[in-house]
Amino acid sequence: MTSPQWSIAIHGGAGTMARERMSDEQQAEYRAALATALDAGSAVLAGGGSALDAVEAAIVLLEDDPRFNAGRGAVFTYEGVNELDASIMDGRDRLAGAATGVTTVKNPIRLARAVMEHSPHVFLSREGAETFAREQELEQAGPEWFATPERRRQLEELKARQTEGGGLGWFDADLKYGTVGAVALDQVGHLAAGTSTGGLTGKRWGRIGDSPIIGAGNYADDRSCAVSATGAGEVFIRVNVAAQICTRMHLLGESAQVAADHVIGEVGQLGGDGGVIVAAPDGSATFSFNTPGMYRGRADAGGLREVAIFADE
Ligand code: GLY
Repeated sequence: MTSPQWSIAIHGGAGTMARERMSDEQQAEYRAALATALDAGSAVLAGGGSALDAVEAAIVLLEDDPRFNAGRGAVFTYEGVNELDASIMDGRDRLAGAATGVTTVKNPIRLARAVMEHSPHVFLSREGAETFAREQELEQAGPEWFATPERRRQLEELKARQTEGGGLGWFDADLKYGTVGAVALDQVGHLAAGTSTGGLTGKRWGRIGDSPIIGAGNYADDRSCAVSATGAGEVFIRVNVAAQICTRMHLLGESAQVAADHVIGEVGQLGGDGGVIVAAPDGSATFSFNTPGMYRGRADAGGLREVAIFADE
């Protein structure tokens, strides 16, 4: 009899992180934060819990950690607000939930799950999503919980650059897409994916990225894979990244690595950058990204447990 199989992968964003720009101490802090989230998700799966619970457990910790662009420590909009997006999907039956533009929900991934499990809808936005969150008695937090001085500095830097450049330079100077996400396979063979983000520094006009869009930044289907993405949201939406990877695996029989590399290649051809994590029914947990680094980790029932930052590790 084969032993029960489970696997999990997490990410904390992709971007231009370079060894020479991160102190050893900073690297150690990020690795420890990733390991804590990975271990939380792994513990759920090792104990026979569901892929959905594992994904939520890992993402809540990443949302609460101010280093990552989700929940606490999310980037600011142009108007200086932290507007949060999240989505979750259950591979069993392709049920999904998502929310965009919320400002008072401490853990947006819990809101996405509540939308999936306790509403007849898939995607709620802004004031309506906040009302639903209150009705569901999800934990609330004030602006001071989400705001950090470093994110404020990044917004001021972006505004200064836009002024100097006559309005050019829309996005983060160093293109660190700090979205967080997790994908998992549980012991009974079900897949789940979750993604949570503050979006892009200086976003305006109610901009929505790929993270809360089912198919773009997040997708799960037991027949093929579970995907969570991080990167240039506009391009990830146009390529329909997460669903494309699962479709290639399902219809073309590609491995997770081949499918993910192909679709991230398409993102690159359109001038986008970023990456994905993929969990598959065979127990594999795969990364693909076209940036110099991606905060990431993976673990499985066979004893794999690794976290990494840079592309060459
Ligand atoms: N990938 C995150 C965003 O574009 O909002």
